[in-house]
Amino acid sequence: MIGVLVSGAGTNLQALLDAGLPVRAVASNKRDAPALDRVPHLPTAAFELAEFDSRAERDESMAQWLLSQSVELVVLAGYMHLLTPGFLAHFPERVINVHPSLLPDFPGAHAVADQLAAGVVEAGVTVHVVDEGVDTGPILVQERVPVREDDTVESLHARIKDVEHRLLPTAIEELLCAR
Ligand code: GAR
Repeated sequence: MIGVLVSGAGTNLQALLDAGLPVRAVASNKRDAPALDRVPHLPTAAFELAEFDSRAERDESMAQWLLSQSVELVVLAGYMHLLTPGFLAHFPERVINVHPSLLPDFPGAHAVADQLAAGVVEAGVTVHVVDEGVDTGPILVQERVPVREDDTVESLHARIKDVEHRLLPTAIEELLCAR
């Protein structure tokens, strides 16, 4: 059973659903995340940091909710908060992230803009196992995305997302088959 964490539009969540993967619960750090509207048929929950005493308490509450939904594998599909060690301990080597760059280059929340500002000729996508760092952990798969001279953050991110929507479900399918 897969639990998905989201913060934004949820196009990667949609790709997981469209691939027929067993997504059973979706959680967010933002109650108004548009991604949550994509899954009226599934249990959803919001864990806003402001409603907890600490990040560790928020993450523990989120982990307990996911476990109560029988989640075994957690996919970060545009989830923009760092997870605490306590959360990761509930799902050892079973938290997977998709990131819009060729990690370890350009980690963080503004990877697409950072790549354009740095003038790279190739951006990319990485799917990796999450550890306690910012967009670090063992890499499962990467794919290059050429940068065009007239690219804006929006146009480059759109082509990166096209790749993400193929790479992420394939990586998750392979993980499920390997277990
Ligand atoms: C995706 O491009 C994902 O790689 C990125 O946020 C976007 C979410 O889009 N994640 C990160 O930058 C994580 N550091 P979505 O909400 O449409 O799936």
